[in-house]
Amino acid sequence: MKNLVIAVDGPAGAGKSTIAKIIAEKLNINYIDTGAMYRAITYKCLKNNIDIENEEHVIEIAKSTDIDFRDNNIYLDGITINDEIRTIEVSNNVSNVAKIKEVRFLMVDVQREIGTRNSVILDGRDIGSYVFPNADYKFFLIATPEERGNRRYKELCEKGYNTTLEEIIADIIKRDDIDSSREFAPLVKAEDAIEIDTTGKAIEEVVESVLSKIK
Ligand code: CDP
Ligand code: CDP
Repeated sequence: MKNLVIAVDGPAGAGKSTIAKIIAEKLNINYIDTGAMYRAITYKCLKNNIDIENEEHVIEIAKSTDIDFRDNNIYLDGITINDEIRTIEVSNNVSNVAKIKEVRFLMVDVQREIGTRNSVILDGRDIGSYVFPNADYKFFLIATPEERGNRRYKELCEKGYNTTLEEIIADIIKRDDIDSSREFAPLVKAEDAIEIDTTGKAIEEVVESVLSKIK
């Protein structure tokens, strides 16, 4: 049977990963957090004191990095990672890593390889528009920057990070801007994607909207 591919794109904090994870469980398919891949490369660069502005060095790091997903966990050079890639420092730098075309080629190869092996739901920025233009289903989640900032702020506070709502909203707006305006595979709604405005909607409500479209 053909593998099922579901693309979930949209700006930061729209609820993509939360919704994609639940759908993956309900449909018993794999979940790939493609943002985590760009975050992992960024984390490794920062850890190795690589200047993110130096594209050649960032590309070298990306080429010598092994990224894989097993049991819905991301592995960086064989070691599973999670909270260390969600820090504010990584968030502040990730869009400048993700705009490098060569880095994207490497990540997209991994994403396509996994997508041709198994049925998957992937969340990101360019899944429906570039990585899997023939995906079976494409969703584009949006919400106001204030709501997205509030959600992310709450999440970071619960994890004990010392930050402010203003800082989080500013990061989200800046990342959306870099992600939407980059030259190669920018954040964009695929023409045939179903847009869902999640502002003011509970997680369960969004899950229901998505599931109702999947036959
Ligand atoms: O969870 P959040 O929305 O904050 O971000 P993420 O999904 O973890 O993605 C982090 C960053 O990776 C984004 O801001 C983009 O710069 C980049 N990214 C991308 O360029 N393409 C993707 N398919 C996924 C993420
Ligand atoms: O992956 P993305 O950056 O699009 O967003 P997320 O990490 O899935 O969601 C950000 C936060 O918003 C999480 O803490 C979710 O629990 C929360 N959320 C929400 O409150 N209501 C929704 N409809 C979706 C997500």
